[in-house]
Amino acid sequence: MISGNGSNLQAIIDFIKGGEVDAEIVRVISNKSNAYGLERAKNAGIPTHVQTLKSFKDRGLDREAFNKELAQYVADLNPDLIVLAGWMLILSESFVNRFVNKIINLHPSLPGDIVGANAIDNAYAEFKAGNRTKTGVMVHYVIPAVDEGKPILAREVPILPEDSIEDLENRIHQAEHQLLPLAIKQLLG
Ligand code: GRF
Repeated sequence: MISGNGSNLQAIIDFIKGGEVDAEIVRVISNKSNAYGLERAKNAGIPTHVQTLKSFKDRGLDREAFNKELAQYVADLNPDLIVLAGWMLILSESFVNRFVNKIINLHPSLPGDIVGANAIDNAYAEFKAGNRTKTGVMVHYVIPAVDEGKPILAREVPILPEDSIEDLENRIHQAEHQLLPLAIKQLLG
């Protein structure tokens, strides 16, 4: 499940193609119709599905209706694993509780450190204020509390003295592209 660029999706596609894990991506689901990750999926021959929250709001339906319909769509696919690879919408408790221990998320912070959508910016701000020299990435099980389920894999990422925010982002993304496929292999392999 993606919301944007899909570079982590690409890392998974390449990992499977390289024979590193015996897995198949049955569907790429996006909550944004213009997510570049959808192109990556199409290029790899993977079927896609778009479900936007806006399309529900436009019909007078709420977030819970969005979550219910999405959960049913996912359940019908009967996946072994649901991977949030840059999925930027918080899933409701009803969605999460329907797939206990089956949803994993990638988050650019070490376990118990920074939660929320701005983890990289927040880490960089603390580094600039002299309060931080490292951050990290983790893959964790999804529970209703955002970014807080049991960690599966985590890796430290150093912040170097001359780093720009872009340098740090790049280093974090490189770590993510390695860690997410490895977590999938650990769970499915
Ligand atoms: C990643 O940094 C992920 O941790 C975050 O969103 C980004 C997704 O990147 N939550 P991409 O769409 O996989 O390129």
